[in-house]
Amino acid sequence: MNKMINICAGVSLIAISLMMGSAAFAKETNQDTMPAIAAQCLSCHGADGKPELADVPIIAGQQPVYLANALRHYQSGKRTGGQALVMRELVKDLTNKDIEVLAKWFGEQK
Ligand code: HEC
Repeated sequence: MNKMINICAGVSLIAISLMMGSAAFAKETNQDTMPAIAAQCLSCHGADGKPELADVPIIAGQQPVYLANALRHYQSGKRTGGQALVMRELVKDLTNKDIEVLAKWFGEQK
């Protein structure tokens, strides 16, 4: 009996993770190259930097230097207005290296 319950729980866990996976990765994410730190960006910016949300900017294929500068300006509070506060909160703990890695990867997405 216990075994049966375990199997059921196991199957529904798989189903739930598949559902979550398909929501987060509705478009293709280049999982082979994606830096782990980029995972937290996809819910808003889309699986590959092309968001479904109308009020979130497309960052895929953007110039890496521009992306890195934008992230640094959110972090320092230099970039304000619009929804800058959303980004400021998200980038506050990123290191310089994180910013470089993120800017490079999103810049490379097609
Ligand atoms: C909660 C949703 C959300 C998440 C998560 C999120 N962003 Fe954003 N991002 C936004 C919104 C909204 C804006 C527009 C902000 C503004 O008005 O300046 C934005 C703006 C940006 C910009 C500026 C784009 C431009 O064209 O100037 C960059 C770069 C960026 N985000 C990168 C990232 C990265 C990298 C991550 C992950 C560390 C991330 N974002 C996570 C919502 C999000």
